[in-house]
Amino acid sequence: MFRPILVFDSGIGGLSVLSEIRALLPGRDYVYLFDNARLPYGELAEQVLISGCVELVTRLAKQIDAALVVIACNTASTLVLPALRQQLTIPVVGVVPAIKPAAHLSQCHEIGLLATPGTIKRDYTRRLIQQFASDCQVHLFGSSELVMLAEQKVAGGTIDQHALTKLLQPVRQTALDVLVLGCTHFPMLKAEISQCLGSRVTLLDSGKAVARRVASLLADNGTTGQMGTLNGFFTTSELAAGLIATLSTLGFSQLVHFPPKSEVV
Ligand code: DGL
Repeated sequence: MFRPILVFDSGIGGLSVLSEIRALLPGRDYVYLFDNARLPYGELAEQVLISGCVELVTRLAKQIDAALVVIACNTASTLVLPALRQQLTIPVVGVVPAIKPAAHLSQCHEIGLLATPGTIKRDYTRRLIQQFASDCQVHLFGSSELVMLAEQKVAGGTIDQHALTKLLQPVRQTALDVLVLGCTHFPMLKAEISQCLGSRVTLLDSGKAVARRVASLLADNGTTGQMGTLNGFFTTSELAAGLIATLSTLGFSQLVHFPPKSEVV
């Protein structure tokens, strides 16, 4: 019996990372923590983001005796990893925007990073670009509206392709050939984004790289054997009915308010 892997995001974005990890490690058990009370993270002040994430994740990781934590959120990963690693003795894996592979792949040395407004302005992101894409022109695009569109889609709503095209207009005005999806919500809109930008632009995300990192850190990694379970979906606020329906289709049977409602004042 394996201890569960805790996957955390502000919203449904981390499900894109969870599905890559599950594809590689089907035999493990998973718990998902969804901080929907404070979504979108891209708009939060840095200190608020750090203290809230550290408190939530540390508490649930201890409560469920997690084997490993995945911060399946670029916005949080750019800030909270050092503080979280100080609190936990288990491995904590973050998500890094795929700038390095994008720079390798680009033929025209012009790439883009589509992320939240928070990720776009972080020193962490600037350093990543300096380190791995110094030979490229890098365009930065920040959008919380896209985050909310992805939430809508996963909750069963239809995506207004016209609104999406408008949001992506700044991307369409460049000559880039590789666009990094630097927010875990955006792979949920990959088909729509691709339809809008056309086949000239390759879209890259970090889901598979995170899954490989998780597998490498777990010696007893569960690549084979019986299918593991989705043990619980912990949320910090109420969920829309459409989202509850999607989660049950995905296999999450247990939806739990966290922290328990009795503690919320
Ligand atoms: N999914 C998140 C990310 O990867 C955060 C989205 C948000 O809460 O703004 O950055």
